[in-house]
Amino acid sequence: MSLILVSNRLPISIRRTKGGLEIEPNPGGLASGLGSFYRQQDSKWFGWPGDVPAAEQKRVAARLRDHFDCHAVFLPSRIVRGYYSGFSNSILWPLLHSFPTYATFQASEWEAYQEANERFARAIADASAAEDVIWIHDYHLFLLPQLIRERLSDARIGFFLHTPFPPHDVFRVLPRHREILHGVLGADLIGFHTYDYARAFLESVRRTFGYDNRMGTLEIGHRAVGVDVFPLGIDVARFSSGSIGPSFMRTVARLRKGLGDSKLLFSVSRLDYTKGIPQQLQAFRRFLEVHPDRRGKVTYLLAVVPSREKVARYAELKREIDEQVGRINSAFGSLSWTPIRYLYRQLHPEELLALYRASDIALLTPLRDGMNLIAKEYVASRNDTGGVLILSEMAGASKELLEAFVVNPYDAEEVADAIERAITMPAPEQMRRLSAMQDRLRRSDVRNWPTHFLDRLDALHRMSQDLAVRIPNSRDRKSIRQTYRSATRRCLILDYDGTLVPFASDPSLARPDARVMDTLKILASTEGNRVLIVSGRPRSDLDRWFHGMPLTLIAEHGGWVKEPAGAWEPAMTPDDRWKDGIRPILDQFVERIPGSFVEEKDCRGQRDVLRDQACEGTVGFHLRRGR
Ligand code: G6P
Repeated sequence: MSLILVSNRLPISIRRTKGGLEIEPNPGGLASGLGSFYRQQDSKWFGWPGDVPAAEQKRVAARLRDHFDCHAVFLPSRIVRGYYSGFSNSILWPLLHSFPTYATFQASEWEAYQEANERFARAIADASAAEDVIWIHDYHLFLLPQLIRERLSDARIGFFLHTPFPPHDVFRVLPRHREILHGVLGADLIGFHTYDYARAFLESVRRTFGYDNRMGTLEIGHRAVGVDVFPLGIDVARFSSGSIGPSFMRTVARLRKGLGDSKLLFSVSRLDYTKGIPQQLQAFRRFLEVHPDRRGKVTYLLAVVPSREKVARYAELKREIDEQVGRINSAFGSLSWTPIRYLYRQLHPEELLALYRASDIALLTPLRDGMNLIAKEYVASRNDTGGVLILSEMAGASKELLEAFVVNPYDAEEVADAIERAITMPAPEQMRRLSAMQDRLRRSDVRNWPTHFLDRLDALHRMSQDLAVRIPNSRDRKSIRQTYRSATRRCLILDYDGTLVPFASDPSLARPDARVMDTLKILASTEGNRVLIVSGRPRSDLDRWFHGMPLTLIAEHGGWVKEPAGAWEPAMTPDDRWKDGIRPILDQFVERIPGSFVEEKDCRGQRDVLRDQACEGTVGFHLRRGR
């Protein structure tokens, strides 16, 4: 059994150097979460390696496979544009982060998204065995679970979403939201960072398909699909005791020396409108206005990591940040003090660690963020040095880092006030808060994360196997035939809706077709057979469909019974006066839910027939829901 990890990006980066393409491991994000676990397992990682010229693909694929256990899914640039910059990052990303006005939809991008997911599915299905565990990550690959399920019906498939999941009214803005939900529901387990996201997802599933859940488990057909919460942690030891090479030590020492006694306020994020960088700059400006005495005594180091620059919104955002930094520095700076030091580039992991250790305050105020691992990394890096974290309440991490200054990123006054309080926070208070958060981080160390997820995936897969309908194999069929032939008296009990006919949205249209009728005629007229049909339909429907056939009919979910040559007899003893109290309540719902209706079952009478044999139970009402 192998573990197959799938994500849009592979845990490597490819750089073009003078000597050709150079491949190196990329320790960020998901790779840091799964890196060590992945190397200990018999695993393969599938992903898109970025744009690699066709002539070099073979060589790159071989190197990735042999040196990194990575399997490249190459995508032509025409697909990449629509799939990555388009559908993934111009509609899914803004909607998942509740920025519907930033979302743009184009049918051609949806086609490219489907095509890219198909290509992933083909590559994975070709390389996996039935018993493999397939763990898919993030919104680029929402369709993949179902596409793999169609190819490998028994596979154990997990899906984890690293972004937030928005309220249904935002999600439904997505023109293909049904297809997206259908795609992801092909998984056995769907994981989120927080309960809020999991709840929002379940609500979307309920409102779109009508599936209810029991403690986060959905029953879809004959499969159990679990929806659960697995907050991603970090490798705490790497940040608390990781070492930093001499060159980065020197750079950071120079930076600190240049700052003198002034406090260092640090912020780092990928270039993204969800990260709230302009709002953060606005709050810093407010802080300098309200606290003129702090000018020259606090320096704000703003690091922005380039990202998705081909998407128009990102290019605009970059311009906006550049201008805002320029305006603040020129309004408040002096010859001896630059309020904002601004870096726009990739940071080396050791450099980042050095900056965490050198900063007095971390300011992380995304407008919306699935988790925000930076906040966790900052807390873990602060050994016995103190340090204060100011964190947005819109980041998933705020649900765990409770001792941070949790702020609303839209409220410049509140953020400015938090900066002032952070500067003046006594050292023992800083240590008390940090150590409470560090304890919590150790308990949810990333090393446990994959194990928790995969154990739960295993349990759900077993649950699905229990629910599965077993299709009789040739041995079963042979034994059924033998038993049938050797019996002289046979009782065949057949369910109606969903068995003899498919479920229909208007139940009165669920009539049997000619093939079913012919089979029933043969069965019912064979000597020694007694054939019963158990249905929820009213007597009149069954009379219409099976008139004159030698069948025992059971109507209204067991409320009425009719023997072949007899008349309808009531099967139960109910006193149905209770319906009078309930009918108005159901009517109220029907009025409010367009498309719903009450299907009233008739179960008056005295007799108790076939008590143990064939009643599905007694139901007085069915409230059918509208879409
Ligand atoms: C977020 C997403 C990741 C993505 C990362 C970087 O964290 O959840 O799936 O890889 O951003 O974005 P990029 O578009 O550069 O892969």
